[in-house]
Amino acid sequence: MLMFVWMGWTMGRHHHDHDHGELPPGPTCWPVVGNIFQVGWSPHESFAKLAHKHGPIMTLWLGSMCTVVISSSHVARDMFKNHDVVLAGRKIYEAMKGDQGNEGSLVTSQYNSHWRMLKRLCTTEFFVATRLDAMRDVRARCIHRMMHLMEEAAHSGTTAVDVGRFFFFMAFNLIGNLIFSKDLLDSEMERGDRFYYHAVKVMEYAGKPNVADYLPILKWLDPQGTDTTTSTMEWAMAELLHNPRVLKKVQMELRSKIGPDRNMEEKDIENLPYLQAVIKETLRLHPPLPFLVPHMATDSCDMLGYNIPKESQILVNVWAIGRDPKVWDAPLLFWPERFMEPNTVDYKGRHFEFIPFGSGRRMCPAMPLASRVLPLALGSLLHSFDWLLPDGLKPEEMDMTEGMGITLRKALPLKAIPVRYRGPLNLNE
Ligand code: HEM
Repeated sequence: MLMFVWMGWTMGRHHHDHDHGELPPGPTCWPVVGNIFQVGWSPHESFAKLAHKHGPIMTLWLGSMCTVVISSSHVARDMFKNHDVVLAGRKIYEAMKGDQGNEGSLVTSQYNSHWRMLKRLCTTEFFVATRLDAMRDVRARCIHRMMHLMEEAAHSGTTAVDVGRFFFFMAFNLIGNLIFSKDLLDSEMERGDRFYYHAVKVMEYAGKPNVADYLPILKWLDPQGTDTTTSTMEWAMAELLHNPRVLKKVQMELRSKIGPDRNMEEKDIENLPYLQAVIKETLRLHPPLPFLVPHMATDSCDMLGYNIPKESQILVNVWAIGRDPKVWDAPLLFWPERFMEPNTVDYKGRHFEFIPFGSGRRMCPAMPLASRVLPLALGSLLHSFDWLLPDGLKPEEMDMTEGMGITLRKALPLKAIPVRYRGPLNLNE
């Protein structure tokens, strides 16, 4: 009897929907819990393994939630090129909802007129090049403050610092300044008021204790406006300390182009291709949101011959796509040179093998900000400080395990010793 119920359940799940064609293939699922035991502690990794077996477009059942997992650049291209609008909904978990239902913030809003209004405000008032240019000094101040604190730490001797903490406070201040700056918001204006309300909602949302009411395992899918930046910076530093050749090369670039007498400035970024390649390589191997933010099908659609039912959740495994050996040479190697070749890929959502900010309508609106902050913050620290591992730890002994958190952070916080760099780097070293 039980067997019968179970077979009915799985068959019902796998082979419907008769009216609209077949669901993408996937592993057999259990009654009630579906494939939940196949999720594991590292869902991006377990889903990548399942995709090897079931293919780059795959159905999983998380409880009763139909989830379509996309694990190749080919399928991602089809999603964003041909089905962007219909798959632009958001799968919302209970705790993501604010007091205004799920319409509170840009991240959680469904794809509708409310989202369009927020998106327009965001892109025209917030992340537009002229505004970003005008806020350059604010960013420089925040970075300067971080450098000052690092300088104090360096001065106090050879104590290792928790690198992620410095980045976190810098990023928090920076985004706080961006959102709450008087220049940005004019409280007399109705538009300013509305913007302020929604900006606060984004911040509030980021601080919510959590999302995990439905399935605790999905907790880490909850994105946070500062955590993405912190995660990227911490991984970049960790990979550099783990790969001394790359560290030396990027420092050489910074010190030869900028010289020892001044700090790095934002305008230097365009002349630092290797630094930019280091950031890209970090985002390829360690995308802070390994599944983007869950999308939802607002209607059923046909994708590469399979039926995607209305209201299914869509997870794009950018972590797996960034490590796909069919696309990347030696994918597990931290090798920024791959991004130095002519006509190299960028993260603007056009090259589907590399989409750490997503693509299409729901793509991260803060990408233009991140593409300034990440190289400036990392470059400043590498230009002005040398970095040592504590306790005689050798680069090859570092623990590079990914941890499960809100974003894909390092499991073990990176500890390193900053040593103030003085004088020009000996280029013959
Ligand atoms: C390393 C830095 C960052 C990365 C890699 C990143 C990545 C992403 C990704 C993958 C998404 C989801 C795209 C999708 O659903 O398809 C997203 C959405 C979003 N990000 Fe970022 N992000 C970063 C920094 C930031 C920052 C600093 C802010 C705000 C100040 C921000 C604000 C947002 C917002 C509001 C959305 C929701 C957009 C929407 O749903 O329409 N992000 N981000």
